[in-house]
Amino acid sequence: MSLATDRLLLRQWRVADREPFAAMNADPVVMSHFPARLTREESDAFADRSEAGIAERGWGLWAVDVDGEFAGFIGLQPLRPTLPFAPGVEIGWRLAARFHGHGYATEGARRVVTYAFDTIGLPQIVSFTTERNIASRRVMEKLGMTRDPSEDFDHPAVPAEWDGRRHVLYRLAALPSNPPTHQGAGRGGSRPKPVGASTSEGAEGRLRTPLTDLWPSSRPSVPA
Ligand SMILES: CC(C)(COP(=O)(O)OP(=O)(O)OC[C@H]1O[C@@H](n2cnc3c(N)ncnc32)[C@H](O)[C@@H]1OP(=O)(O)O)[C@@H](O)C(=O)NCCC(=O)NCCS
Repeated sequence: MSLATDRLLLRQWRVADREPFAAMNADPVVMSHFPARLTREESDAFADRSEAGIAERGWGLWAVDVDGEFAGFIGLQPLRPTLPFAPGVEIGWRLAARFHGHGYATEGARRVVTYAFDTIGLPQIVSFTTERNIASRRVMEKLGMTRDPSEDFDHPAVPAEWDGRRHVLYRLAALPSNPPTHQGAGRGGSRPKPVGASTSEGAEGRLRTPLTDLWPSSRPSVPA
């Protein structure tokens, strides 16, 4: 499953992405808002998990191509259960430094938002970052995401002594006037994808995880 925008292709990972991805994850500029840079092994494991997630669910953290060149990732992933606002689905991004400042993250993420709401049928997505990551927060704001400061949190998976531990949480809800069709006929014009409590073995686009597990209907809805 790939997604296209005017300038970007969001696609499944390739073996050839591993090297530029590792270089990006070792770049102090790119990783300045994370507690540590990644080793080659950690970076490869990240790419493997992302590839497996897309293969299993049909969606995930997609590799990004700009003019045929690997630029980073943009996409969705289920929240780790230890986060205070889990369960749910997170939208996220990371681009190599020379691709920063061209509007690529916002352009790709807008396409992902459409996919999340119109094709997967998620009622809401979240995003979070360390307080001082202004570029990432700006992308969230340009997507129309909103932050309630009362939901700021200390990330449970980063070292307690790291001074970037305090995180901000942004949310975006699907528009009530644009309910998910599950027919792929939404804003992004994606192909139809079966959605729901499928247990099929890796059929493209199917959800192995039921939507109710990703976002229980009992959860109070939060306005966008
Ligand atoms: C976050 C990231 C993906 C943004 O990518 P990008 O393609 O440059 O983002 P965009 O160009 O779409 O938008 C960035 C916005 O932030 C603004 N911005 C960037 N740095 C800024 C700063 N230091 N102060 C104020 N605004 C800043 C840009 O001006 C732009 O806003 P604008 O369109 O209103 O001018 C990229 O910086 C990145 O990969 N960073 C390292 C990894 C990372 O932090 N990932 C997110 C972890 S949650």
